[in-house]
Amino acid sequence: MSEKTKIAFFDAKDYDTASFDEAAKGRNFKIKYFETKLDEDTVKLAKGYDVVCVFVNDTVNEKVINSLTKKGVKLIALRCAGFNNVDVAHAANNIGVVRVPAYSPYAVAEHAMALLLTSIRRIHKAYIRTKDFNFSLNGLMGFDLHGKTVGVVGTGKIGRVFIDICRGFGMDVIAYDKFPAKDSGIEYVPIEEIWKRSDIISFHCPLTEETYHMVDKKSIKNMKKGVVLINTSRGALIDADALLEGIRSRHVGAACLDVYEEEADVFFEDRSGHIFEDDTLARLISMPNVIVTSHQAFLTKEALTNIAHTTLDNIEEYLTTGKSKNEVTV
Ligand code: NAI
Repeated sequence: MSEKTKIAFFDAKDYDTASFDEAAKGRNFKIKYFETKLDEDTVKLAKGYDVVCVFVNDTVNEKVINSLTKKGVKLIALRCAGFNNVDVAHAANNIGVVRVPAYSPYAVAEHAMALLLTSIRRIHKAYIRTKDFNFSLNGLMGFDLHGKTVGVVGTGKIGRVFIDICRGFGMDVIAYDKFPAKDSGIEYVPIEEIWKRSDIISFHCPLTEETYHMVDKKSIKNMKKGVVLINTSRGALIDADALLEGIRSRHVGAACLDVYEEEADVFFEDRSGHIFEDDTLARLISMPNVIVTSHQAFLTKEALTNIAHTTLDNIEEYLTTGKSKNEVTV
């Protein structure tokens, strides 16, 4: 690689440019940062580049892939773990796809616990009150996590760290995974039992056809009254309208959402001062027992550094050898 590898970097934010510029120092890359997301309209920007670097809300469907290959782009480098936004089947034999399978499971698991604690101890309410010198405790009563049952769906890298954190709080952990980890000391149960027994349920599995809307009207009905749901995985695991109904009927006690099924046009952007079009999200946000963060769980210094280094390593490896240990295949 004597000539610099040209990377078109989509959906770039200040924290991305800082970490990637740092990681690219002394290496053979020329990175052009585009603030816009990659989609069918913006794909024209990729002309003349070797690689496109994309994130969770870029659109990499069949049309975009065809356009990229026509332009001579050789690789789609995801700077995230999930790849549900890429038509991997269509990419096969057309263009390479690499991802960052792990960068800091701690970042996401710790954020899930931060959301849970904030929600059940009403920290979000207390913070606003004391800022206004209101020191009343009315309406701030929470409950102990100690002794509660937490159901963890997906016991991969993030799920396991979350389980360890929960155990540290003295919680009883049960889990569901399509591929249970052997000899892990984790109590695996069928998904129906997760719904039935859990006081709190946290999602750490990928979004697939199977997991799409695994939380819907029916599963919510089978959950304990007052259940707290935490989703730091992918929004579409939860049917947002069914969740809203569950909150309104008081069956769901609280929801902690770092992801939302229609987040693509909203999350990561400053929409203050705009008329907000998504009624379901607006209603959810308006609920006192719903906390929304905008896909922020990954956002730690350690994670960003790892993401930048692994992404550039993946690109280097793929362009030099034609493959990568972090390649996404069908
Ligand atoms: P991982 O691949 O280590 O673990 C995923 C686990 O889910 C595996 O144990 C797998 O067997 C299990 N699984 C697969 N299909 C399943 C199914 N149908 N039902 C139940 N379990 C199933 O992934 P990792 O690193 O733990 O990440 C989990 C998810 O977290 C990712 O898929 C991604 O969507 C999300 N994520 C969110 C971030 C954020 O900033 N909010 C950042 C990073 C990841």
